[in-house]
Amino acid sequence: MSRTGSLITPSFEWVSDLPLTVTDDAGVAATAVGVPVASSGPVPERLGVGRDALSAAGFTGAVGTTAIIPSDSGPVLVALGTGEPAAFGTDAARLAAAGFARATRSHGSLALAVDDLLGDDAATGVQAVIEGLLLARYSFDVMRNARPSTPLTGIELVTGGDAASLEGGIARGRVYARATLLARDLANCPHNFLSASDMADVAVGLAGDPLTVEVFDKDALVEMGCGGLLGVNAGSAEPPRMVKLTYTPDGEPTGHLALVGKGIMYDSGGIALKPGDTSHSQMKNDMSGAAAVLASMTTLAELGCRAKVTGYLMCTDNMPSGTATALGDVVTIRGGTTVEVVNTDAEGRLVMSDALVLATEDGADTIVDIATLTGACLRALGTQVAGVMGNDQGVVDQLRSAAEATGESLWQLPLEQRYRSELDTPVADLKNLGGANAGAITAGLFLAEFVGETPWAHVDIAGTAQADGDSGVNTPGCTGFGARLLAHFALDFAPGAERSNDV
Ligand code: BES
Ligand code: ZN
Ligand code: MN
Repeated sequence: MSRTGSLITPSFEWVSDLPLTVTDDAGVAATAVGVPVASSGPVPERLGVGRDALSAAGFTGAVGTTAIIPSDSGPVLVALGTGEPAAFGTDAARLAAAGFARATRSHGSLALAVDDLLGDDAATGVQAVIEGLLLARYSFDVMRNARPSTPLTGIELVTGGDAASLEGGIARGRVYARATLLARDLANCPHNFLSASDMADVAVGLAGDPLTVEVFDKDALVEMGCGGLLGVNAGSAEPPRMVKLTYTPDGEPTGHLALVGKGIMYDSGGIALKPGDTSHSQMKNDMSGAAAVLASMTTLAELGCRAKVTGYLMCTDNMPSGTATALGDVVTIRGGTTVEVVNTDAEGRLVMSDALVLATEDGADTIVDIATLTGACLRALGTQVAGVMGNDQGVVDQLRSAAEATGESLWQLPLEQRYRSELDTPVADLKNLGGANAGAITAGLFLAEFVGETPWAHVDIAGTAQADGDSGVNTPGCTGFGARLLAHFALDFAPGAERSNDV
């Protein structure tokens, strides 16, 4: 059933090979030129129109908005809104670039006047610009016979400043964008094209010194006592896989970070079958956490991460069958904790807990997990903001600061111990579901049981993994949320560091 290789290649290669050049002149090759315009203040002369004409055309300069200026000859000019100058920052630069890429969808060759997008730190600014341009042009169309999108063939960044000062940021933007697009490709890929073993094959294909991969099959998982992952897999015709990725830096590591990703290749609910609503076709993305971990780890070597990073991808689908885990069954997580499965649709926390235990056994200084864990988080925070909670405020704060830098919004939820008793059951150490309310928090409290004293934070991306339409850097379908966040977090990681990556 697997056709993975042919699916993963397109975005990846495309981003790696795309010419990104710096020029001091609006390059001749481009058929569209973007010019940033703030909501107030002077309009750049190169647009050839003034504020009144732009306003009359309905252009206010709001962040991410655009106005096409037609011309009889030469490239199309596009005004790109950057908002109020006082509020301008990296996020506005990223969104303005995304707006440009989207407004010029039928153009392959783009030029962008970047000087007004760079802000105080040119490298960070241009990185965000590259991210915005590349991410907003993504579409998952490899399965369509008629490909609707015009591929980008080249981007020229027009600057009056020093070209060399932009190179590092451009390279980093390309790496971050490529990681996000890989995560999108994996999450968008239907379950019948991407099984747990395919996911492991993808990881093996992406690895290479200093990123190594070990794949654990069903026998190995039995041997290791990973009863959470095995319990969820019990109803599936496809075998499970745990993929362990290890990044080893050059020189003495600054610390050891473990990343754990939920890799439910498809979540049918299991015996507690989800209804046949079309929204459940989205459950092919229930491996977005694992995709984010894998994608983030592909950036570490190139960007020179100094910490050791271990990734665990917990992969299986969640299916009903005669062999499936039934409601009321008890499973034993790695390390011996017993869990009564009162709802087979609360499967994510079961597969995650085996990995959390393994990460503590491996001696990680800090653990971050990421999962499309709860509908409750989607309800609480919607599709634009992911939930974060943890047992260590320093780790949560480092994640929030990374999120500010990458434009992936996080909001902290309290790990309120007063809800902990909702996980009690007379039958086992824990049950896998709390009460009717605060479902994102009780899921977090469940996970907290498996990390011991290790500083840990949990990111719930149930809402942010999927976009309904074009919005910000997202295009319809899976967003790849978390890939840049985790990469950024890992790159700045030092155990116990107080907000070292402040932006
Ligand atoms: N994968 C889902 C969470 C989810 C829901 C992600 C909606 C994205 C969008 C998770 O495994 C799940 O099924 N959670 C249920 C549990 C409940 C039925 C016990 C939920 O939160 O609704
Ligand atoms: Zn799920
Ligand atoms: Mn579920």
